[in-house]
Amino acid sequence: MTTAQTAPPPSMRLRELVFGAACAAALRAAARLGVADALGDRPAAVEDLAAAVKTEPKPLRRLLRALTCYGVFTERSDGTFAHTDMSRLLREDDPASLRNITLWCTEPWTWQAWPKLDEAVRTGHNVVQDLFGKEFFVYLNEDAPESADVFNKAMTTSSKQSAQDVADLLDLSGAASVADIGGGQGHVVASLLEKYPAMHGTLLDLPRVVDNADPRLRPGGALADRVSIVPGDCREAVPVTADVYIIKNILEWDDESTARCLRNVMAAGGPKARVVVIENLVDDTPSMRFSTAMDLLLLLNVGGAKHTTESMVSRLKGAGLVIDDISPVNPYLHAFDCTVPV
Ligand SMILES: C[S@@+](CC[C@H](N)C(=O)[O-])C[C@H]1O[C@@H](n2cnc3c(N)ncnc32)[C@H](O)[C@@H]1O
Repeated sequence: MTTAQTAPPPSMRLRELVFGAACAAALRAAARLGVADALGDRPAAVEDLAAAVKTEPKPLRRLLRALTCYGVFTERSDGTFAHTDMSRLLREDDPASLRNITLWCTEPWTWQAWPKLDEAVRTGHNVVQDLFGKEFFVYLNEDAPESADVFNKAMTTSSKQSAQDVADLLDLSGAASVADIGGGQGHVVASLLEKYPAMHGTLLDLPRVVDNADPRLRPGGALADRVSIVPGDCREAVPVTADVYIIKNILEWDDESTARCLRNVMAAGGPKARVVVIENLVDDTPSMRFSTAMDLLLLLNVGGAKHTTESMVSRLKGAGLVIDDISPVNPYLHAFDCTVPV
């Protein structure tokens, strides 16, 4: 069924915007039900899809109809549904799958935090501490293990997609060792070790995260004999000596945590160590809607922010680093290449 699309007036556009949660919830429901996985290359009747994902057909049609308004799935004139470029990204097996990102951005805790955005804007502080009585990553790993798993998988998806870009950009010839601080499950380290066959790597992240490190890095993995896996909190200490430190998508939390992390990295590396900070910037991005939404989510959960070039530069200089170069890794990521001064 097709409906003539004319641009709605402002009064309807605003109504549509305030129902943004309905769109997010519909995407989450489709991802959890596995609708995109059940729909193959050929269009399917909603009754067949409903049988495959074990739902009632009528509400499934309503869910799909809502999503087609956003270009996620399409309904054909015979009433069957087919994939679009966006709905394919909800499939678990798509090489560029966004299924885990979809789940992560709509996890249960987010629905508790968003209503408190006015409070966070008023105070400038995160709301997770009040909601759950502990810091966000502590809450996640101690009290919400399913959300923690979704987070780690979502980060791995993003990392896999950007790790190769990071490895392609960085020239580490001349360095013997690299350490990824808050490196998640280790895709960046793995890509760098694959690029440099004589290099030694270290992955440091929270204990529960490194327990699930990339299989290439774990005992028996292809890179295991060239990697050290260090469980730890980089705000407490960075017990790793390396020629180059990577800090990617970490310095988005509160300023005190950023300062402590940089201080510990600089102390560990010592004079002349290279420190490469990689971040999504909110002032140089092809998607302001995504970046500003993520910026607000960071305010809610860790009292943090997506940086502008200027705010990142001021944090790095404030820590005492010398910035040698700022360059794009890909359209969404920038690398700040720094040195610890002598
Ligand atoms: C946004 S993810 C980025 C992961 C990875 N660097 C990447 O770019 O894909 C943030 C990472 O910081 C880790 N993290 C959070 N607090 C940490 C801490 N205090 N010490 C070390 N790692 C921490 C999280 O476990 C997570 O892996």
